Amino acid sequence: MYNIAIDGPAGAGKSTIAKIVAKELGYIYVDTGAMYRTMALACYRAGIKSDQKEEVIEKCKSVDVSLGYENGTQKVYLNGEDVSIEIRQEVIGNMTSAIAVYGPVREILVKMQQELAAKNNVVMDGRDIGTAVLPNADLKIYLTASSRTRAERRYKELVEKGQKCNIDDIEKDIIDRDYRDMHREVSPLVQAEDAVLVESSDMTIEQVVEAITKLVK
Ligand code: CDP
Ligand code: CDP
Repeated sequence: MYNIAIDGPAGAGKSTIAKIVAKELGYIYVDTGAMYRTMALACYRAGIKSDQKEEVIEKCKSVDVSLGYENGTQKVYLNGEDVSIEIRQEVIGNMTSAIAVYGPVREILVKMQQELAAKNNVVMDGRDIGTAVLPNADLKIYLTASSRTRAERRYKELVEKGQKCNIDDIEKDIIDRDYRDMHREVSPLVQAEDAVLVESSDMTIEQVVEAITKLVK
């Protein structure tokens, strides 16, 4: 199987680019962030707070998270229910990086991710794909951009959806989340030694896709 790993901080463009590259190559796109978000949603619905470590771990062990594909789009299911839209809420995004620090939660999802990559050609995006999930991936990309650029991209996305927001608040959230993801004990976000760095602050989506496609070839 051919496996491509794309890691990087929030808003770097990982999912947008991974989706396009996967489509062009006919590979499966695996959004691992959606899996962590689903675990966070399960805890949220049960009224469990992210700092209740034992309760979070118990809950995550008891639920069934699975992936499916509809017209090439990844869907994520919590105990069989399609929660692909619900997991995108801001409250879930913030809770996700707080529960993603727990090793036993990561173990469950990493195992699923490794099984998917063993059976399929994948473009998988996340934080620890090149370092922990697929250390032998055929191509590893570390995609990043300045926090201001990433905040501007998110801001534009929210404004287009008609939501009121403040760019400085978005940047602060991004910086906080990056800090948590880069400083946790288990599988922190870090560029793998053999990953190719793509600094995309001044690159369009098309330019990033082109750069990665060249690397694949
Ligand atoms: O998955 P990740 O959080 O890394 O980022 P994303 O959700 O794929 O991208 C965040 C936003 O940035 C999206 O609205 C993309 O369309 C936009 N983007 C961009 O404007 N230029 C790029 N080179 C990459 C992404
Ligand atoms: O909002 P964005 O698309 O950047 O984030 P996401 O990819 O949906 O991931 C949400 C959170 O899940 C991240 O901030 C990480 O804390 C966690 N995550 C992780 O720890 N490991 C992964 N492989 C993917 C996501």
